[in-house]
Amino acid sequence: MNICVIGTGYVGLVGAAVFAGWGNKVVGVDIDVNKIAMIKKGRMPIFEPGLPQLVKKNINEKKLTFTTNLKEGIKDAEVVFICVGTPQDKFGGADLSAVWAVAQAIGKGMKEKDPYRVIVTKSTVPVGTNEEVAAIIKAAAPKGARFDVASNPEFLREGYSIEDMQNTDRTVIGSNSSAALKKLKELYSHLKSPIVECDLRSAEMVKYASNAFLATKISFINELAQLCERAKADVSVVAAGMGFDKRIGRAFLNAGIGFGGSCFPKDVSALFKTSTDQDYDFKLLRGVMEVNDMQKDYFVSKVLRVFGDNLHGVTLACLGLAFKENTDDVRESVAIRVARVLRGHGAALRVYDPEAAATAKAVLGDNQVYYAKDEYDALKGANAICILTEWNRFRNIDLGKAKNLLTGNHIFDGRNLLVGKDAEARGFVYHAVGKWTNGSEDLNGTTRGVLLNRKGNGSKR
Ligand code: UDX
Repeated sequence: MNICVIGTGYVGLVGAAVFAGWGNKVVGVDIDVNKIAMIKKGRMPIFEPGLPQLVKKNINEKKLTFTTNLKEGIKDAEVVFICVGTPQDKFGGADLSAVWAVAQAIGKGMKEKDPYRVIVTKSTVPVGTNEEVAAIIKAAAPKGARFDVASNPEFLREGYSIEDMQNTDRTVIGSNSSAALKKLKELYSHLKSPIVECDLRSAEMVKYASNAFLATKISFINELAQLCERAKADVSVVAAGMGFDKRIGRAFLNAGIGFGGSCFPKDVSALFKTSTDQDYDFKLLRGVMEVNDMQKDYFVSKVLRVFGDNLHGVTLACLGLAFKENTDDVRESVAIRVARVLRGHGAALRVYDPEAAATAKAVLGDNQVYYAKDEYDALKGANAICILTEWNRFRNIDLGKAKNLLTGNHIFDGRNLLVGKDAEARGFVYHAVGKWTNGSEDLNGTTRGVLLNRKGNGSKR
């Protein structure tokens, strides 16, 4: 099948490479000249495991090409995927300007005599967007140009996106045209998982509902963590116990410092905005956002309760800057937010992330921040360790070596990566999320007496 993918970010570039790997002829399009030049040379604009190899292989086999010329890109395409960004706008909704611009360009690029095409939106867009996309294309295209629109949301996790696309749990295709649905079913026919065929609006909603539900699971477990710590229960054990119930599942029940990234925060907010626009107050989503905001403050308050509000003269080793493991992406990273707040209190930071140092430096700068070569370099002379991103390698940190490098003995584990008993046995004061540890005891029970407001000021009861 001849395919054109417009937008070469996480979704578009991975999509283009995987479609080509399935034997299709794919053209990737982007307006960013530098990005396209880079990709053509086999250098990836993002860190994504397996992506450079897959892109190079398909370029060499002549199944994958790239261009900055959209007209050229869609020329022979039977299916055109729109994979451009839909960042959060200033009202909390989705900024659709890139989608509108691409729809307009597609319309203008079509010719009357062209064969029938399906234009598919993979970008995350609010309910009703695809109907507008169809109207824009129709207005810009020559009379008689044959096309239909469809929605085919992606469910890719950064760091695992190739695997997620190749072994997806389900494929959702929404269209009001049976010809479009047939074409997309053909593209995905080799997949073993279910294909959900539906109308345009329901497909658009599935994407937001899925992300908002996963975010709800995270905020639920984070709020439960607050309770577990006060009640001296262990949230990880509780999550494991809950997770064996197939109706609940263990995934996305890891308590931590909150969710970040380019999807969850903006998608929850956009769904809330859609809801408000429809005159419905989605109370649960409001709570999900509030809890997420609070979780970062809860973590910071643990550090402040040990060192005081004024962190001048305190050096903190921050392990992890990416919004999660296996990525160099720091968009909406809670790790970065926490680092900023700690620096704002006067702390000097020694930070390390296996992949995100460069992207983090671009937003965090180097004022009071030293970018370490590895986790042990970050620990040198620091008063405490703050674990902020769930990179697997931090689980295996050599605690004996760590103890010798630190000048202090506190570990604030914002992702519950370490085994508390091991850290305590090594002489650390260990602070986790949702667990009663020697760190909680060390604070002489004050954990139970601290309330946090949304701005993060801790106030004693
Ligand atoms: C998400 C969705 O999972 C994916 O289906 C969608 O298409 C895009 O958005 P991604 O943004 O790559 O993917 O990250 P994800 O792995 O879902 O994690 C999001 C955030 O939640 C991260 O900050 C992560 O640290 C946090 N998280 C995740 C938790 O705090 N606890 C968990 O149990 C799981």
